[in-house]
Amino acid sequence: MLRNKQMNKIKNIGVLTSGGDSPGMNAAIRAVVRASIYYDIEVTGFIRGYEGLINNDFIPMDRKSVANIIQRGGTILKTARSEAFKTVEGRKKAYESLKANGIDALVVIGGDGTFTGANIFSKEFDFPIVGLPGTIDNDLAGTDFTIGYDSAINTVIDAVDRIRDTAESHDRLFIVEVMGRDSGLIALRSGIGVGAEAIMIPEANMNADDVLHKLEHSRKDKASKIIIVAEGDDTGGAFKVGEILQEKYPHYDTKVSVLGHIQRGGKPTCMDRVLASRLGVAAVEGLINGESGVMAGQINREIVFTPFDHAIKHINAEKVSSKWLKLIDILSF
Ligand code: F6P
Repeated sequence: MLRNKQMNKIKNIGVLTSGGDSPGMNAAIRAVVRASIYYDIEVTGFIRGYEGLINNDFIPMDRKSVANIIQRGGTILKTARSEAFKTVEGRKKAYESLKANGIDALVVIGGDGTFTGANIFSKEFDFPIVGLPGTIDNDLAGTDFTIGYDSAINTVIDAVDRIRDTAESHDRLFIVEVMGRDSGLIALRSGIGVGAEAIMIPEANMNADDVLHKLEHSRKDKASKIIIVAEGDDTGGAFKVGEILQEKYPHYDTKVSVLGHIQRGGKPTCMDRVLASRLGVAAVEGLINGESGVMAGQINREIVFTPFDHAIKHINAEKVSSKWLKLIDILSF
């Protein structure tokens, strides 16, 4: 993946955020801008992800344009899921716009959809791109954590702690749905963090009957019960699970709560700010050193560059291994 250093004198780096936003994206943009300036490289911010490339919608960025944003959720560059970039014509337009504006490398901040597009584009036009993992889902290989995941799970545990208070007062069973269309990692970690009785995630194949069985055999002395359901769980979401449980076990006073987009907003945690800052600088240094077609991640505290092909193969087994699922069983027993 290392390109020829001599051929790779970068003068202007383009940066964009794409896909679902995540807390810490601003910290990542700031790091890319500041690192570029440090290394005497100009930097251009594209608006609404790949749409900005295609429509020539960009702003030159300087130190000041990223001042006072490290603590802000969302993304100052805005974001979108671009349908046009999935087409050859769209990508051709994007390439022409990059060339016309003298951009010779890109940092793309996003998740698997963003990297799928970057992977195709980078190969199609032999264009240097380094990705930064910006998604609350944590569903990328090549990094222990993605930027935004820690903030999102902290939002979840804050919300569920509140739910636990009222659930305990009323002896209720709460089904709480968290985000994760294709991934149960938000449910898994927040489930451990809130002391959930069970979690339902796409990776674990646990249906409503399994959950019922668990509830019936779990501690009888605990007045409240909380089940965390990932949005992408096969059962069909928290309302469906609530319906099934209420019908089969009317003795539970069951309530459903869907946390939704609240998980995507808010201040990034310190962990996300530091991760974003470190990876943002690594992305610029990676491009200078000839990296391309890769995502910058952090594994065991070390910076690692992983080819997009591998990073988008979703979760590595470690992230949802049976040992994590067993932990929930042991702790809720
Ligand atoms: O990929 C991040 C994510 O928040 C998923 O967890 C969720 O399924 C999806 O985005 C929601 O996307 P949208 O904001 O477009 O509804």
